[in-house]
Amino acid sequence: MKELYFEKIDSTNTYLKEHYGELEDMCFVRADYQYAGKGRNDRKWTAQEKVNLTFSLLIKDEKVISSYKALSVLSAYSVLQVLNRYGIKEAKIKWPNDVCVNDKKICGILLESVSKEKIECLIIGIGLNVNQTLFAGTYLREPTSLKKELNEDIDLLKLKDDIYVQLSDNILSLKQGHDFYEEISSYDYLKDKTAKADLDGQRKTVKIIGIDKDYSLRCECEGMIRNIESGEISFHQGDC
Ligand code: BTN
Repeated sequence: MKELYFEKIDSTNTYLKEHYGELEDMCFVRADYQYAGKGRNDRKWTAQEKVNLTFSLLIKDEKVISSYKALSVLSAYSVLQVLNRYGIKEAKIKWPNDVCVNDKKICGILLESVSKEKIECLIIGIGLNVNQTLFAGTYLREPTSLKKELNEDIDLLKLKDDIYVQLSDNILSLKQGHDFYEEISSYDYLKDKTAKADLDGQRKTVKIIGIDKDYSLRCECEGMIRNIESGEISFHQGDC
């Protein structure tokens, strides 16, 4: 694996956005600290220095890029599989890209792309709470970490390697046509929940059916069944 490491950086996602041209497919960038870490919906991602994992993976392979719809959920599933092996059995995927443990958020994923005439690359950015136990400030969802769940210190570098291996194996299987739907569906946090959400520019009540085969979210809204893509919906705080 081609791995780049920074003690401090603005954001590992931003680094790959700026340097993807000179880097190889599956290049992995990790930092001990991000001073401008990015979350979804223009939020910030803050993580205490040296106790958490903040890293990004560069995807340049055209076949994998064409499966971009699966990548957020598949990345969350890859982290979940590793958490399972570390003893966290209650982890679920909160579509499209969070991993939650007993309603608390342990991992957030930000999938970004660089496009010109076509998509040049995808960047999977993963922030995983590992050995942090105190979370100051306000969060949309209460955070947790591996250490809080397991009551033990975790070897960050081993965990990083385990996630890289799992994620690369899964991406390879995706490229070879493997269908992860059944596996992923059994860890669907939102399945059968009812939520208030911003959709079509309005606040609506949405009954979630669950993650669908194409990795969109199947919902019932105003008497109609529809499939929603990531980015089309935002759930209200405390609702989902
Ligand atoms: C979210 O839950 O809002 C997504 C958070 C994604 C955070 C990771 S940390 C590594 C990578 N670099 C960033 O600036 N963001 C992602």
